[in-house]
Amino acid sequence: MQTTVTVYLFGKPYQVPSDLTIMCAMEYAGYQLVRGCGCRNGFCGACATIYRIQGQKELKTCLACQTKVEEGMYIATLPFFPLVKEVYDINTVNATEAVMMQLYPEIYACIGCNACTKSCTQSLNVMQYIAYAQRGEFDKCAEESFDCVMCGVCSSRCPAGISHPQVAMLARRINGKYLAPKSTHLEDRVEEIQTGSFRELIEALMNKPIDEMKELYNTRNIET
Ligand code: FES
Repeated sequence: MQTTVTVYLFGKPYQVPSDLTIMCAMEYAGYQLVRGCGCRNGFCGACATIYRIQGQKELKTCLACQTKVEEGMYIATLPFFPLVKEVYDINTVNATEAVMMQLYPEIYACIGCNACTKSCTQSLNVMQYIAYAQRGEFDKCAEESFDCVMCGVCSSRCPAGISHPQVAMLARRINGKYLAPKSTHLEDRVEEIQTGSFRELIEALMNKPIDEMKELYNTRNIET
């Protein structure tokens, strides 16, 4: 017989199979997920969720598509969190520490509570990447924040009102545009595509039967 657990979705109790993720448990309980559901694979950050296990003090955070249900879970999803998103032109930003002071000055009000890191659904060292941003070390900030899915949970817990995912996004853009070495092989390939070097090859491919196309795809060389 299938084991079940009791979970509370938005305050209402449901018996659900114990091997389901929170996201599947919501669907099992009859919720139709219009918001708060995207890739279902831990990449898009649409399914940020907060929960507390009955009888425990700690408020936990997770991605609903990646986390199994547990007995006594009180669950609320957070399909959107209102981050501060400044508008700028990456082609004209001043790629120095001053840009953070100008666009996201609240990062200098960080009190070091580490709530952002503790709540990160990706287990990133969020406070550390904000420290890198404060010092204008955009390459380090970009590296440390690389797996951010922008779910916004860190910002929901921040007493200084920092929009960590947007700060990290700016650092990654600066890094990509001004600091990281140019990817010349990529530029060459784009140029080849634009000048039509592959047109015949692509047309020949497009005219193949679908099964042959699938076979070619499944047996392709994968660069590692
Ligand atoms: S649905 Fe995309 S991360 Fe969960």
